[in-house]
Amino acid sequence: MDIPVNLCNRLKAARHVVAFTGAGMSAESGVPTFRDSQTGLWSNFRAEDLATPHAFLKNPVIVWQWYASRREAISKVQPNRGHLALVQLQTMIEKVTVVTQNIDNLHKRAGQEIVVELHGNIERVKCFEENRVVDRFSPDEVPPTCPFCGGLLRPDVVWFGELLPAEEFKRAEDACGQCDVLLVIGTSGVVYPAAALPQLAVQSGAYVVEVNPERTPFSRHADVSLQGPSGKLLPEILECLM
Ligand code: APR
Repeated sequence: MDIPVNLCNRLKAARHVVAFTGAGMSAESGVPTFRDSQTGLWSNFRAEDLATPHAFLKNPVIVWQWYASRREAISKVQPNRGHLALVQLQTMIEKVTVVTQNIDNLHKRAGQEIVVELHGNIERVKCFEENRVVDRFSPDEVPPTCPFCGGLLRPDVVWFGELLPAEEFKRAEDACGQCDVLLVIGTSGVVYPAAALPQLAVQSGAYVVEVNPERTPFSRHADVSLQGPSGKLLPEILECLM
């Protein structure tokens, strides 16, 4: 694809680039989407009925096991060319911040240094009672218990009905409101409040680029909407800087 000259120029002049990413960013890695993970043993459950505090209180064993199976599936996939392009961008731009809605940890595994995780991280575990992140737990207990208070441990991800982590959301607002270029990658842009973040960049005059094989509700707000997979388009965008 021909990358627009304006995009190349804005990128060359940029000091801070933010990438706002969603599930499509990991599509080419083969990460099962939230709903696609309902196969085999889990086909009788709806994801929306497992990813809630209420479901965990009612049946912590089932919810823990569902996340354990997703964690295992995710541990087997690798970051794709899109993730690696954003890692390479760090060597070309003064500051690169990734703000992600994904919980799959692939940005960090790829080597991204500044990652704001709006919806948590499936590899992290926290106490259901006190919200404290816990590093070590017994793999024999299902679910394991908190070494500090004895409460049940849960994945450190944002469930339906829960607020986004305030500190991470503030970091995301600051990054989106202060960047020179915003890349909106692989997100349908319909899940709020995260979906409001790209508008902050639009309002502050940043150059806003969408990368997605499909048009989305956000497309008309972007300065340019590049249609295609991020694993192909992000390396092409980087070529402007070489
Ligand atoms: N490259 C770029 N984008 C892609 C690719 C690809 N290879 N493949 C698909 N997409 C796009 C789709 O066109 C779609 O617009 O990725 C987007 C994925 O949209 P959603 O599945 O709605 O994911 P997301 O926007 O991240 O959803 C936000 O909703 O389900 C909850 O908590 C979950 O974090 C998630 C949130």
